[in-house]
Amino acid sequence: MKTVFSGIQPSGLVHLGNLLGAINNWVKLSNDESKNYFCIVDLHSLTAMPDKTSLKTSIRDTLKVLMASGINMKNSVIYVQSDLKEHAYLSWILSNFCQVGELQRMTQFKEKSNSFGTHSGLLTYPILMAADILIHKANEVPVGDDQTQHLELTRNIADRFNNNYGDIFPIPEKTSGKSGARLMSLRHPENKMSKSSDDINGTIYFNDSKDSIIKKFKSSVTDSQNEIKYDLESKPGISNLIEIYSAINATELKETEKQFQDFRYGDFKLAVAETVINYLEPIAEKFEEISDSEVDSAVENNLKLAKVSAELTISEIETALGID
Ligand code: TYM
Repeated sequence: MKTVFSGIQPSGLVHLGNLLGAINNWVKLSNDESKNYFCIVDLHSLTAMPDKTSLKTSIRDTLKVLMASGINMKNSVIYVQSDLKEHAYLSWILSNFCQVGELQRMTQFKEKSNSFGTHSGLLTYPILMAADILIHKANEVPVGDDQTQHLELTRNIADRFNNNYGDIFPIPEKTSGKSGARLMSLRHPENKMSKSSDDINGTIYFNDSKDSIIKKFKSSVTDSQNEIKYDLESKPGISNLIEIYSAINATELKETEKQFQDFRYGDFKLAVAETVINYLEPIAEKFEEISDSEVDSAVENNLKLAKVSAELTISEIETALGID
């Protein structure tokens, strides 16, 4: 049976990019014959030095979004990274299988080290990510396109470990949907949609009101032509809207193009807004229904399962390394 692992940072409200780029695929995979681990990677979010109270709130809210998203909880283990110390332990071990130069070449390191200064947590971030993935011997990692480079590094680290100490780790594959793997800001379609964007009107949060969603789509930046056509180079705004619509409705980009070929931009924006509202509404409603105690008991039970799996892998690794 295949094993799936993925993670999300509790660094603010979950947005449409997280949902369409990653969580949507978690939902699909959790209904397959697989073992799934979905993790709130709070240790990763420490790299941005968050405020303690907002971090606590974000961890709980992100857990609730996952529980509300339709993930099949029978097949999935949802837990918080810092509750399972083995992640950090494995990260240290794996750091010996990774070159400093490789870490310095990571695009996200280069981008983030400008705004937060350069502490070593930002540099070694991808090693902890490799540990997350390898601790449960995952074969599949459903993530958005911004994680491709980190996943490639994980594969290299796993391969080097295996070459030196025996075949312990499967080499994990990235999975993403046909569309939605890289949603862009509605206001600045040259930048990706993110939790901490400078212009919050460019990001759709999972619990945005209907009015706010319509307003954000109405003010989305497009181009001066009037053709609904997928062309990332010259029409990034319209392409992003096509991408959003296609990801939610599981249609091909070409099909969406065709469906709206006679629409004016304004009407197309409203059609996409409506699709997004219908997609987010049940998630936001379910989110409100989930109590803190439900979260606590789910996490407690899930953590036990995650611990058993992590301890098994660690013991195998320790034996392979001669530190058992
Ligand atoms: P994070 O918390 O930034 O995002 C969580 C997931 O959402 C995807 N995503 C997007 N997809 C499409 N369009 C966007 N605009 C967009 N923004 C975010 C991300 O690709 C991701 O899949 N490093 C990871 C967290 C992590 C992880 C892991 C992931 C830590 N360890 C192990 C997988 C496996 C991150 O910062 O994701």
